Amino acid sequence: MEETSKSINSRRRSLRETLGITRMSLPVGLTDRLEHMRGIDRLIVPLAKTIRRKLPSGSMARDLLHGVPTGHPLHPPLATISLGCFTATAVLDLIGADSRSSSAVLATGIAGAVPAAAAGITDWSVLHLEQQRVGFVHSLVNLTALGLYSGSLLLRLSGKERAGRMLGFAGLAAVSVGGYLGGHLAYRMAAGPTHAEPTTHLVPLGWHDLCRLWDLPDGRPVSRRLGYIHLFVLRHGATVKVLADRCSHLAGPLHQGRLKLENDEVCVVCPWHGSTFRLEDGAVVHGPATSPQPAFEVNVRGDGVVQVRPRPI
Ligand code: FES
Repeated sequence: MEETSKSINSRRRSLRETLGITRMSLPVGLTDRLEHMRGIDRLIVPLAKTIRRKLPSGSMARDLLHGVPTGHPLHPPLATISLGCFTATAVLDLIGADSRSSSAVLATGIAGAVPAAAAGITDWSVLHLEQQRVGFVHSLVNLTALGLYSGSLLLRLSGKERAGRMLGFAGLAAVSVGGYLGGHLAYRMAAGPTHAEPTTHLVPLGWHDLCRLWDLPDGRPVSRRLGYIHLFVLRHGATVKVLADRCSHLAGPLHQGRLKLENDEVCVVCPWHGSTFRLEDGAVVHGPATSPQPAFEVNVRGDGVVQVRPRPI
């Protein structure tokens, strides 16, 4: 018995060593390796560029697909609809439910996957390269799942119920792998959550001295440090606008962005992927960011010292 467990452990060790995975669990190790799979870059880079060209920065369709109007990325809730339907189909198949019910639920899942994929690929086109590598495999696996589910539906509709169910279970296996990769992207690689949220936790309550008004260039954004965080600071005459400097999308340096007028309001465009934020309150005007940029209230003291405090939400 002891011998058997020793030989299993040594086989696992040699598989890890072969794959170059040492101290982490096998799925995490494999997924981490995807992040460095440079071989697929020649597919990814032109594909991402084409998507960005077809959906130009600031267009209504792109903002909608990113989820700007809802304030959250659109892809996860849309994907949840399909995943729920696919899981329900498996349960209905397992309990031997009426085939019309399982086919209807499956068809709903397939239909829901189309807008989910459109939103996902739009988000994917403006990620870092490491994230895009994992996202590319995530979408290939999900496309495979969608093919299996479509085949399953066709078989069911042509009366081949048993074969349709088998194909459906294969689809569930594929979509589970796709879901794992999606989780890795969202939680381990932070593609989706705001990167500006910690700002308010790192700034103590109350007013803080930042700098002297006349040390700030007029009309040109600069970065100034306040304790642990970097701030975007723009002076126009005696007026100062202050936002968190790390873009809420993927932490790009906003002070290196360009200024732009949108609906007569001054905005800053992130230099990395073009998210546009209103200087007045940090609101998102255009994606890919969906979360606002933390904004600060400003007080210029009589002696010219600029003070800031986080703007209440
Ligand atoms: S980091 Fe992506 S838009 Fe700012």
